[in-house]
Amino acid sequence: MQLSSFGQKFALESGISSLMDDLGTALGENPDLIFMGGGNPGRVPAAEELFSRRLSDILADGQRRHEMLGVYQAPQGDLSFRQELATFLHQRLGWPVGADNIAIANGSQSAFFILYNMFAGPMPDGTERRIHLPLSPEYVGYRDIGLGEDFFSATRPMIERLEDRRFKYHVAFDELSLDSGVAALCLSRPGNPTGNMVTDDEIERLDSIARQHDVPLIIDGAYGLPFPSLIYGDGRPFWNENTILMLSLSKLGLPGVRTGIVIATPAIAQAFARANTVVSLASGTLGPSLLRGTLADGSLERLCREALQPFYAERRAQTLAAIDRHRGDLPIWTHSAEGAFFLWLWCEGLPIDSMALYERLKARGVIVLPGNDFFIGTGENWAHRKECIRLSYAGDPGRIGEGVRLIMDELYRAYEA
Ligand SMILES: Cc1ncc(COP(=O)(O)O)c(C=O)c1O
Repeated sequence: MQLSSFGQKFALESGISSLMDDLGTALGENPDLIFMGGGNPGRVPAAEELFSRRLSDILADGQRRHEMLGVYQAPQGDLSFRQELATFLHQRLGWPVGADNIAIANGSQSAFFILYNMFAGPMPDGTERRIHLPLSPEYVGYRDIGLGEDFFSATRPMIERLEDRRFKYHVAFDELSLDSGVAALCLSRPGNPTGNMVTDDEIERLDSIARQHDVPLIIDGAYGLPFPSLIYGDGRPFWNENTILMLSLSKLGLPGVRTGIVIATPAIAQAFARANTVVSLASGTLGPSLLRGTLADGSLERLCREALQPFYAERRAQTLAAIDRHRGDLPIWTHSAEGAFFLWLWCEGLPIDSMALYERLKARGVIVLPGNDFFIGTGENWAHRKECIRLSYAGDPGRIGEGVRLIMDELYRAYEA
């Protein structure tokens, strides 16, 4: 097989694809593994009910069924859904958007691939531009997404130590200086892997820095506002003409539906849709069909507030309590869990690399994600990047409690050795 540069970059093994293969093999060999590694949402009965009821209604109606299964959508995606979403954003959040500001994609991952490469990489004048992460660790799915080399740069965060062995990353504004090679700023909010809800004040400051440099601020709202709204503290939704907000239906409980949403200026939404047409021809209709009507009648907001948030908030509390119970005097710091469904553990001074910890935990029947790969663009020479792991608390609470016990037990061994 003779591969192009594109083929070599995307089709050959990368760190993250080997890790994913390894996870798959481990699960295949031992289905009893306690899986705290993935980004899969939990099974929330009210969400399953809402979406299956809607699906049955659509399937029972010949015309709607045909519109969902038998028709290619316009490049920016299902118009009536985009209109309903725009009305919702306008009425509920006061954002000056219409259907033109919105484009539908086949999952936000593929939307990021298009969007990032639209802005960064080789430029027509021969220079190179890159995406800057104002706070890294960041979502590992960005890591290999760039067509160009050195696609990301990042600013290492400031670490604030809080009571009860909690900590929080903040944007290190003193270190955040952008040069002309920066094409856009991007952050996930709430953050994957940390659950960090970058504060409203930090967002305002990032917005003003982005404007000063005439680059967009991309906010990855896969877990955030206005839906699925997996946020357990403060934080306002944010959008203006210089923002590109990326949403996803996945964490509502619909990762199989593959729907992402881009909210930007009409020019950016249209440019995105053109590129998306080249790659995908059209975006899928299932996600927009399932959601149609749920924004207008308030049922989606209710689902987020009354079912999804309490579901994850309860698991979060149980998992934090299990960590506090088993941690003893280990120097394990938990990132302030303000959103999403992950806990980010910083094992300060860990004598082994987090990848070695991952291997040891796997051998004991529990899967976590080693932190190393999340530190995109931070450079290697930072001990902190080898001292972190990510746990998902979306799964069964009883199993998670046992998982936490095993993790802490293994950490005791690692620190004692
Ligand atoms: C922060 C973040 N952004 C984007 C995605 C991509 O999600 P999807 O392609 O399912 O919309 C994920 C998936 O886990 C994520 O965690």
